Amino acid sequence: MDNRKAKLAVIMAGLPARGKSYLSLRLQRYLEWQGYRARIFNVGAYRRESLGAPSSKSDFFDPREPVFARERERIAKRCFGDLAEWLGGAGDIAIYDATNVTASRRDYLRSECGRYGFEHVFVENVCDDPEIIEKIIRIKLEHSADYAGFGPEAARADFARRLGHYESVYETVSDAAHMKIINFGLSVVRAYGEERPFLDEIADFLGAVNLMDKEVFLTRHGETYFNCEDRIGGDSPLTERGAGYAGRLAAHFKGKDLVVFTSAKRRTIETASFFDCEMVVLPELNEINSGLCDGLSYAEIAERRPEVNEARNYDKLNFRYPGGESYMDLIQRVKKAVIRIEAEKRDVLVIAHRAVNRCLVSYFIPTPPEDIPYIEMPLDRIIRIARLNAHYGCDWKVI
Ligand code: F6P
Repeated sequence: MDNRKAKLAVIMAGLPARGKSYLSLRLQRYLEWQGYRARIFNVGAYRRESLGAPSSKSDFFDPREPVFARERERIAKRCFGDLAEWLGGAGDIAIYDATNVTASRRDYLRSECGRYGFEHVFVENVCDDPEIIEKIIRIKLEHSADYAGFGPEAARADFARRLGHYESVYETVSDAAHMKIINFGLSVVRAYGEERPFLDEIADFLGAVNLMDKEVFLTRHGETYFNCEDRIGGDSPLTERGAGYAGRLAAHFKGKDLVVFTSAKRRTIETASFFDCEMVVLPELNEINSGLCDGLSYAEIAERRPEVNEARNYDKLNFRYPGGESYMDLIQRVKKAVIRIEAEKRDVLVIAHRAVNRCLVSYFIPTPPEDIPYIEMPLDRIIRIARLNAHYGCDWKVI
């Protein structure tokens, strides 16, 4: 997939507290990790910036108040104007984060996208699971700048009134190209015509994301005979020391409700063999394909293929092994595993490889792309990635 030339506007839609901002942030991360210039345009932030605290009260959202209704439209249009300027220039994918609950607002956005020549898709978050809604409301009331000046009960009551105002005018998306994300990963409705692989990918990703506070653990396989000789690639078995690590790893996680993902390589499967929980083999977690250099040691590469060494040292991120892959290629492969990890509701342990784990870490913990191939990733270590909470990203720790 290379959608770099297409200018895509992803337009969120849905009632307040349906997780639009959360999905917007996750999607932005997923796209930026792949090298896209992706930016969120949040109408609420524009409103707060332009009108301040009074615009946070529920009265401001009352559809029967024409002055407020006009203000809301004005701000939404200004935000879209900035989006259009950015997307028409440097941007690849813009995410327009607002409720957009009326057909007339969406008609406006659709015609603006047409006028600017942007591809667009509506992403409607539909959620009727009281547990999910309650979780989102709690996060919102705790963290949104709109409720900073309210006590907890006043915040909840005012938010309920705001929600009521939106419910009174809400029209579900039906005509335009759209996808509907139902109850965070329960199901996804795709209504954007056929042959849209990039939109399929976005739908797969958004349909996988859920609100579980799960932990993701990453480790490399135990030591192999190839590791001892500093050889890359191959399909070497574990050494005695490697098997020792595998045993200790399983003991460390004993009793935890966990799913283990491995690559299709012998060394990761052997490392997982001491676990008694569910194990899933994902070939997309196989180590970077080193092509013609597969099986060579770093010293042999330096001696026999000095041009490989030189080119790799110059630009390790984009360097593609002859007949093999680059780190950027690897991200395109590993993203399938990212979607699997996102979709899991249990904690996940990934047993994979050095380059693959670097790519995975850089998805969870934003990393400048050129630093990805140099992230510390020794054998015999576990990296624990904890989601801090639904809005504020991830934390990581080496165990
Ligand atoms: O040496 C182990 C290994 O997993 C190789 O199979 C792989 O080519 C390499 O690490 C990736 O690390 P780097 O990109 O730093 O060479």
